[in-house]
Amino acid sequence: MRHPVVLGLQYGDEGKGKITDSLARQSSWVIRFNGGSNAGHTLWLNGKKLVTHSVPSGVLYTHVKNYIGAGCVIDPKSLENELKEIAQSGSALDKDRLKIDFRAHLTLPIHVALDAAREGGKKGIGTTRKGIGPTYSTKMDRVGIRVADLFDDSLEGKVAFLCDTYNALIVQQGLEESSTEENLEVAIRARDTFRDHVAWDATPFYDLAKDQKCVLEGAQGVLLDLDHGTYPFVTSSNTLAAAASAGTPFPMSRLGEVIGVAKVYMTRVGSGPFETEQDNEDGERIRAKGGEFGATTGRPRRVGWLNLDELKLAVRLSDCTQIVLTKADVLCDEPVVNVWADGKYTEFKGWTSVYKEGSKDTLSPELEAYVKHIEDYVGVPVMGLGTGPDRADFVWRKETPDFWA
Ligand code: GDP
Ligand code: IMO
Ligand code: MG
Repeated sequence: MRHPVVLGLQYGDEGKGKITDSLARQSSWVIRFNGGSNAGHTLWLNGKKLVTHSVPSGVLYTHVKNYIGAGCVIDPKSLENELKEIAQSGSALDKDRLKIDFRAHLTLPIHVALDAAREGGKKGIGTTRKGIGPTYSTKMDRVGIRVADLFDDSLEGKVAFLCDTYNALIVQQGLEESSTEENLEVAIRARDTFRDHVAWDATPFYDLAKDQKCVLEGAQGVLLDLDHGTYPFVTSSNTLAAAASAGTPFPMSRLGEVIGVAKVYMTRVGSGPFETEQDNEDGERIRAKGGEFGATTGRPRRVGWLNLDELKLAVRLSDCTQIVLTKADVLCDEPVVNVWADGKYTEFKGWTSVYKEGSKDTLSPELEAYVKHIEDYVGVPVMGLGTGPDRADFVWRKETPDFWA
């Protein structure tokens, strides 16, 4: 059996959480492979909203087990709050339903302080300030704190070394250093809180994946990829499909469909190039209709028209086999919908409803024409469309595929 990967094809917030949630119904496992509490994946079920940050989006199905992979970084305070919120929503995650790879790195207070110090200076790029860049930096520098370190006698020395080494950068900015004691306290609390959730087996999915259905869930989007995105205005992890294998104990040969999620327009949070940005009334109107405010930071998202050159690039980089488009409902009643490709805009007639009059599953001719254009230009099929935020607000445009063939 091969397993699908869900990832974003734009600058994040494409609706990955919702698509992962719908695939989770048929799955045993949902596995996150990158990112940390910078992610915010929104799930709506029966009028109730839940935003997942570090926890995979399989959480609303009580039969689904969730795995935080080695490619992820974990802020223990944020994860603890997330678990409380999830428990309040009625689907508490016990030790069997949430597993954390022992190799994942921890985001400690010093990482958050370093992020703030960098962002406050001239080199700020508009990060989420969740300490993500510094956590991946100390991982690359081979002085980071892994989940496994929490259970080793060397913990205190490692935390002290981390703080001694990196506090200099904080002090340089005139800010107060992050104390070793505070960092150690957070680490020890994490050990007590997450002890039973740690996955120590080095290759749990090698055998499991032969007969249990899994979904691999990415965070951020391909255009924010550390290597292939709009550097330096990127996140600090790889977001493309190859990261699904690198960030989990999942061999490449077990990965199957790569489902790329994209909005029918585009958004971006933070700084960086945005060719089709509509910093005008059009952008404001779509932001209001689409509720385009960050799920993690609440920041207004920059809004623009769909850029097919970037979409095609993202599809190629991630070897995407199919696209799911979200937020088709948000552009209803737009008189004109623009698409950027080959250095120019093409104008499309807007649609007044997602569905053809009198139908519940056939798209309106205007929307169908728009989607067909995207499909033809990019070269992979658009399998389905999001028609609203709820799990139920979705239509398959083609016959439902077997994601685990
Ligand atoms: P993610 O980070 O990719 O999971 O996406 P976010 O949750 O950050 O942002 C997507 C936003 O769009 C959330 O508020 C979702 O509830 C909402 N959403 C997802 N799909 C649709 C859709 O098809 N239509 C509408 N109107 N909202 C959607
Ligand atoms: P999800 O998973 C949208 C953006 C930040 C900033 C840049 C670097 O919900 O799609 P970081 O804090 O990662 O160092 O910030 O990346 N960013 C996101 N934008 N959705 C996200 O996650 C994002 N995670 C990071 O706004 O521009
Ligand atoms: Mg998001």
